[in-house]
Amino acid sequence: MSEFAAIILAAGKGTRMKSRLPKVLHKLSGKPMLEHVLDAADEAGVDDEIVIVGFGSEKVTEFLGTRARVAIQKEQLGTGHAVLQARDLLKGEKGTAMILCGDTPLLEGSELKKFYETHKESGAGVSVLTADAPNPFGYGRILRDTVGRVTGIVEEKDATEEQRRIHEINTGIYCVEMPLLFELLENLSNDNAQGEYYLTDILTECLKRGRDVCGIKTRDFDMVMGINSRRQLAEAQRVMNARIVGRLMDAGVTVMDPASTFVEKGVRVGQDTILYPFTWLEGETVIGSDCVIGPQVRFTNVTVGDATEIQFAYAHDCRVGSGVKMGPYDHLRPDTVIGDKVKIGNFVEVKNSNVGTGTKLPHLQYIGDSDVGSGVNMGCGTITVNYDGNAKHRTTIEDDAFVGCNSNLVAPVTIGRGSYVAAGSTITKNVPADSLAVARGKQVNIEGWAKKHRQK
Ligand code: UD1
Ligand code: MG
Repeated sequence: MSEFAAIILAAGKGTRMKSRLPKVLHKLSGKPMLEHVLDAADEAGVDDEIVIVGFGSEKVTEFLGTRARVAIQKEQLGTGHAVLQARDLLKGEKGTAMILCGDTPLLEGSELKKFYETHKESGAGVSVLTADAPNPFGYGRILRDTVGRVTGIVEEKDATEEQRRIHEINTGIYCVEMPLLFELLENLSNDNAQGEYYLTDILTECLKRGRDVCGIKTRDFDMVMGINSRRQLAEAQRVMNARIVGRLMDAGVTVMDPASTFVEKGVRVGQDTILYPFTWLEGETVIGSDCVIGPQVRFTNVTVGDATEIQFAYAHDCRVGSGVKMGPYDHLRPDTVIGDKVKIGNFVEVKNSNVGTGTKLPHLQYIGDSDVGSGVNMGCGTITVNYDGNAKHRTTIEDDAFVGCNSNLVAPVTIGRGSYVAAGSTITKNVPADSLAVARGKQVNIEGWAKKHRQK
């Protein structure tokens, strides 16, 4: 038995998006619109979720997995017809159904919860969430009588000149008691400008049965913005980002330019960290306190400790310790763990490697499939040769080793603790601790050779 179910409409093609992808799978802040709607429904406390799918149903169903139940609307005959497809899945239910659209990703759970509670207190059969829109074009308009009671909703295409001047719009979010909902839906007609079964007509059907209809207005129009075009998608992205970045600032993070700093919902940033412009923090990224991040840093699923400074870098699926200095122009690839107080200078790539405390990778290194100890100094241009064309091999560089410039460490190989590698060496054999390895051609000086060469 469900007390509070959500029916989410996601069967429409989204013609105005001009896309091969179903509208509700278009992403905003790293997640499909539909996922944001499901998150809001979860936060509001729903105990059952049914998504109505139709256009691109395989893709939408695949995305949903086991997260929600699915009802298929074979033909897109209108929003009322769409909700009717949930009838079998909700047979015998006596709770409340909240109807949401998959194309309103800016919804917040707390607002939906408030709406549900107000609906319950009102005792109405149907409640609709409304908002005053600065530009109501395209939305259904809310009709009220002289004492302010809602009498119905008229769609833009069916509205008179006078009705189009109304700014109070239908957000497309309703609470309806079950099983009343399905009785109302069975009585809809498609006698309107679009020849569709309009969900909005359940309001007049409800009034006809002598049950109350309640119109509840939200003050935040942004939250209920419906996405029908790429322009609106960009606008919603801007609003969502401003909301996330605003919350970071409220929590004690300095953001130099909120408009050019992009942070996804799941990201956490510690107190007194400073974010410089053109910083993208994505996925499950966590940044500690007192860090300086950016300009031009893109992190996806990266954990960073405290007091670390990074500029002009791209990192994904890895960890960076505290007190690290990194950049400009570095790339950290998956499964990399950078220890505390490491210094990574310019043009360095690290992949699937561990780098110990205080180690220096100052310029032009490639460190792949390696375990680098602490206190190691890698000379400019030094690389690990981890791939033989067939398989990858690991390199071990023990604590306090000093590797001279332009050396190649051909894996599998170990550079012993405290040892030196002479600049320009190609190391193919293990280097014992505390020794010097020289692996390059011996220098020969031929006296007078240049002078003779010039006289030819
Ligand atoms: C709808 C409302 C309008 C409201 C607006 C809010 C109707 C008739 N109109 O208009 O009053 O102001 O939302 O954003 O309800 N869908 C289906 N099956 C269908 C048709 C649509 O699942 O047969 C889904 C779409 O995928 C979408 C949602 O329903 O998620 C709304 O459809 P859309 O075409 O965007 O309706 P609007 O014209 O925006
Ligand atoms: Mg819409």
